[in-house]
Parts: sequence; C-alpha cells; structure tokens
Amino acid sequence: MAIISADIQIARKELASGNLIGFPTETVYGLAGNALSVESILKIFKTKNRPAFDPLIVHTHSLDEIKKYISELPAALAELIETFTPGPLTILLPKNYLIPDIVTSGLDRVAFRIPSHPLALELLRSLDFPLAAPSANPFGYVSPTCAQHVEDQLGEKINYILDGGSCNVGVESTIIGTENNDLFVYRLGGISVEALQQSTRSKIIVKEHSTSNPSAPGMLLSHYSPKKRLLPVTSLTDKISDFDKIGFIGFDKYLKAMPEANQLLLSTAGSTTEAAKNLFRTLREIEKMPQQTFYVSSVPNEGLGRAVNDRLKRAMHQD
Ligand code: TXA
Ligand code: MG
Repeated sequence: MAIISADIQIARKELASGNLIGFPTETVYGLAGNALSVESILKIFKTKNRPAFDPLIVHTHSLDEIKKYISELPAALAELIETFTPGPLTILLPKNYLIPDIVTSGLDRVAFRIPSHPLALELLRSLDFPLAAPSANPFGYVSPTCAQHVEDQLGEKINYILDGGSCNVGVESTIIGTENNDLFVYRLGGISVEALQQSTRSKIIVKEHSTSNPSAPGMLLSHYSPKKRLLPVTSLTDKISDFDKIGFIGFDKYLKAMPEANQLLLSTAGSTTEAAKNLFRTLREIEKMPQQTFYVSSVPNEGLGRAVNDRLKRAMHQD
C-alpha cells in the first residue's frame, strides 16, 4: 500500500532517493521518476510492465527549463508552447545529450510537457531535475484519473502517491511535432485540433496510427482495454433483451429499451469536455457491474470528443 497525501516534501524525498511516485496532472496521473537518472527510468519501465520501445514524456515547469535539454526549438512549436502551456499539450523536440537515450527509446526527439495542475507545478519547481512520467497504469490498461486508481493498480510497487484530487481534463495530453513545415498531431488529447489550428498558420495533420510501426505507441489499437467486452452500439439488434448480460455506455441519452441501471452516460449535459473528464472513470466502473458486454456510443466528433472517440475505438478493439 502506498501513502496517499498532498505533501510535496515527501514527494521530493522519494524522488531524490531514486524512487517513483504517483504524480497528479490535469490530464491523468503519472508514474514519475527523475528523467535524468537511467536507474529511475528503468524502474518506470519495469513497474508499468512497459516495452522499452515506448518512449516517455518529460515534465517540467517552464520553457526555459525545456531549452536546457533540447538542441533546437522550431518557431511554430515555441508559439504553441506559449499559447497552450502550462496545459495538456506535449511537444516533440530534438533532444540533447542530457536526456538519457532510454527516455526516448533511442529516438532523436524528446517529448516535453508543462502540466497545469498546481501541485504538479509546485513539485516541478522545487526539483532540480525534470520528471519522466507515463500514465500510472499497467501497460495497455485504462489511465488513472484519481489517486485511488493509482493505488488500486500500482500501490504495491510505490511508496507514495501525491494526491491532487480528480483530474480536470481526463484524457491524456495532445502530442504534436513538426515534420518539414507541417505540424503533426501524433495523439489526440486534452487540447482540441480546432484550438490548435486556430492558433497557428501551419497546417495541422492528424497522423493515423499504425500498429506495426507506431510513431507514438500510445496509438496502438489495443490500448485502454478494460476487461469487459465492448461493442459499437450500431451492432445492437432489437432482439437483445437479456439485460443480465448487456449494458450501455452512452454520451448524453439513455437507451429507452434498456433499464437505466445498466447504463452509464459520459455527459448528461451533452458536453464533450465533460465526456473526456468522465471517460476513464466510466471504463473502470463497468468492471464492477455484473454485465459482461457493453455497447458503446461515440460522442460528437468535435472538441475533446475526437480524443474520447479515439480512446473508445481503441478500448473496443480486441486483439
Ligand atoms: O497527459 C499525458 O501526457 C500523461 C501525463 C501523465 O502527463 N502522460 C502520458 O504518458 O500519457 P504515456 O507514457 O502514457 O504516453 C506517452 C505517449 C506514448 O504513446 C509515447 O509513445 C509517446 O507519448 N511519446 C513519448 N515520447 C515520444 C517521442 N520521443 N516520440 C514519439 N512519441 C513519444
Ligand atoms: Mg499511457
């Protein structure tokens, strides 16, 4: 069992001793360790059961800090950092020698992010090293959005979880980078494509995932798999009536033909932002329900709805 509290001093002490902690951010909780220590990074991969080919995001508190660890800052990306961070945006930048190769799985670019969660920022400002932090879930499983989720899955493996309450955004950060003069989104996330496009003259291209050679392995199709069977609601036939066996995850409206006790809605107010915030908690809640199969409705494909639909699609994918 880990200790769960909001004490920056305990968090600092654990990290300085080379240990990992549960780390709150506005998107999801991270499993954080010293990004400059190969030993701490190895612990992260081991604790998450994460394959070594899947690189880590490095967290810090300012653009000046990021500049210490990179060889170049493309103007288009500097602009987006100014506009959207601190916040749920991760930027791929050419790394320098200070970042161990193992952090980036040998890639030339390192992923940097400045989280906006006040406790995360306070911790980062108090440290003399940045924090590598993947989402604090075993590899391939749903990301944690409160301290208890981290405890449930990794509590046996870490001493301390810094408790920052429930995550406000609820889906992971949007990952961007440049290729030639274009801006690529490698993972849909907490900053919408529309918001990015409004703030830049560069053309934004959303990269389709590839399971064989993922440029951002968070794009693997089987990510976010809960242990229940998830099927698109479009495949629900009128004949099904065995409500001991089936349930529903919807956007803002219950299915009339099914008891409401079998159903979970992502946003009764019909907000894609709220749906993002509730998504991972909902995917955890169905594990405790008696039904084995859940039909899933997509949400409007706009704003954070795109990131929600992306996660739902991956959660529905069975290998
Ligand atoms: O919101 C978030 O980004 C959360 C919080 C904790 O900050 N972190 C997170 O980390 O989602 P993780 O490890 O679960 O997902 C990071 C994704 C992975 O898909 C990884 O492949 C990609 O970022 N990534 C990291 N470094 C990369 C790099 N150098 N090049 C390409 N993709 C990279
Ligand atoms: Mg993850």
